[in-house]
Amino acid sequence: MTQPTRPPTAQPTLADLIDFRLNRRGLIKGAAAAVTISPFSAVAQENGPSSLTFRELAHTLDERQHVAEGYDMQVVIRWGDPVLADAPAFDPDNLTAAAQEKQFGYNNDYLGLYPLPYGGRGGDRFLLVANHEYVNPQLMFAGLKSEHEKIRAQAEVEMAAVGGSVVEIVREGGTWKVVPDSKFNRRLSVNTPMEVSGPAAGHDLLKTSADPDGRKVLGTLNNCAGGSTPWGTWLTCEENFNAFFGGDTAKLDPKVVKRYGLGHSAYGWERHAERFDMGKEPNESNRFGWVVEIDPYEPGTPPVKRTALGRVKHEGCTYALAKDGRVVLYTGDDERFEYVYRFVTARPWNPTDRAANRNLLDEGTLSVARFDADSKVEWLPLVHGQGPLTPENGFASQADILIKTRLAASLLKPTPMDRPEDIETNPVNGRVYVVLTNNSRRKPDEVDKANPRARNEHGHILEIAPKDGDHGSIEGTWSIFLLAGKPGHDAGARYHRATSEQGWLSCPDNIAFDSKGRIWIVTDGAPEAAGVADGVYGADTMGHGRALTRCFYQAPTAAEVCGPIFTPDDRTFFLAVQHPGEGSTFDKPSTRWPDFKDGMPPRPAVVAITKKSGGTIGS
Ligand code: FEO
Ligand code: CA
Ligand code: CA
Repeated sequence: MTQPTRPPTAQPTLADLIDFRLNRRGLIKGAAAAVTISPFSAVAQENGPSSLTFRELAHTLDERQHVAEGYDMQVVIRWGDPVLADAPAFDPDNLTAAAQEKQFGYNNDYLGLYPLPYGGRGGDRFLLVANHEYVNPQLMFAGLKSEHEKIRAQAEVEMAAVGGSVVEIVREGGTWKVVPDSKFNRRLSVNTPMEVSGPAAGHDLLKTSADPDGRKVLGTLNNCAGGSTPWGTWLTCEENFNAFFGGDTAKLDPKVVKRYGLGHSAYGWERHAERFDMGKEPNESNRFGWVVEIDPYEPGTPPVKRTALGRVKHEGCTYALAKDGRVVLYTGDDERFEYVYRFVTARPWNPTDRAANRNLLDEGTLSVARFDADSKVEWLPLVHGQGPLTPENGFASQADILIKTRLAASLLKPTPMDRPEDIETNPVNGRVYVVLTNNSRRKPDEVDKANPRARNEHGHILEIAPKDGDHGSIEGTWSIFLLAGKPGHDAGARYHRATSEQGWLSCPDNIAFDSKGRIWIVTDGAPEAAGVADGVYGADTMGHGRALTRCFYQAPTAAEVCGPIFTPDDRTFFLAVQHPGEGSTFDKPSTRWPDFKDGMPPRPAVVAITKKSGGTIGS
């Protein structure tokens, strides 16, 4: 079976490794030169040693999106567009939960592509899946000044606007279109029935008055990034679920309340639905914070919360294959000083029998990463009964460890990181890239080699080479791929020496690789941290252009860029533009992107970027 979203993970060749070492040396020398001679090289005006041929954008900050010359942008689907065939037309003045349950949700984040038919290369026809992470109520509802004014009907629209969407898309005459009556089109929201599986299913801490067995949950929340499996299912990740719960936390474990940040409701849903009130349903919040597996090819099957992967604020969950065929899933816990995790399935996946993989994610080993000063990374297993993970320390079972993963992990003394966001494996060189978005709270006495800057406002990217090129190995080596910020201005910023005035970036979040193994980095928070728009930056990962980031795309006012993904032929690059106009209101939006029509609020949207000449992106 062809792997649906990207080519199988290749192991690095000897030539790659030699190339890598040479370039690391060059990078270190280049970094020194950048400090002592000039922050920007004369090469900056052109592509220099980069394999990327587009002319860079200059940094901007305005209400429109921008892409490098020679490329086209198309909005594929926006908040409120029909997903189901009987969805009503979008009417921003009369939002209803019933309509929203059939329309594309708010704040698109992760995007996944699944070829049609299943198992094909999917040149022109895919299932596009999108996460809907959260809502911006002041941009959705006219006149809404605060969460306290929100009425139940508005809260119910929000509940229908989160979760995810599946739409069939087809490329016709160079344009991507949603197939309006596809049998695969599907909306998931906080009302969608889901199952719980794995070691924590049925645990007392997952039981509620609506679900006394602790095995059936309504919905998914704060679906940030995600990933896919080799058998073509979608992994959607529940990140800041805590923001959706309110009320009295006295019935919860105080250590969990503190470590997961519960008790600060951002949306006021607890005033409209009892299950979001922790005073009334203390266990409901334990049913979120998981990785959820969804089969986009089987719209009738319920999503499954895979508890074996632990409960944290999962940014994403992406796979590589161990040499023996076991599936290795990397997942970051996005909060300051939280950790990097991986899960290794107990059994290899079965490429010839899709059904045999159905519950593969229920058995395996969850581990947490320790990044040592000598460049070694070690994966520390979270297994009940091993080391400190015992009843004496508060963990009576593996289920306890999985429900309170953060608390269990801390006992193993992993490395507290600068907000782990996306973690992805480069399909060409087999190395794993760990994106650390920022951590302004790291103090000088808290720095370490893997998180080397105090008050890290701009973030950095680590690169892991698994031992012997095997993702199943319990150790590997790590190095720094880049340190973000403006060279010569922000302490410690480090890229390729030829990185230009336009090419530096701030707050890396998600990444994608094209089929040449080049990294494409999207940012979240650059306007606040650096006064420039969030955008997309491409760079080689090997060769003379390694870590020479170049600015390709910039988002409209206040939007972050999420969900980067290429079609397998590299001819279309999809992006999810999230929260345009955030911080402003429906009545006075800071942008009306993408429609720019009076009365129409800004709308989170999926954008397809193609080359005017019809070639591959970037070259
Ligand atoms: Fe939802 Fe970590 O970004
Ligand atoms: Ca993110
Ligand atoms: Ca982010």
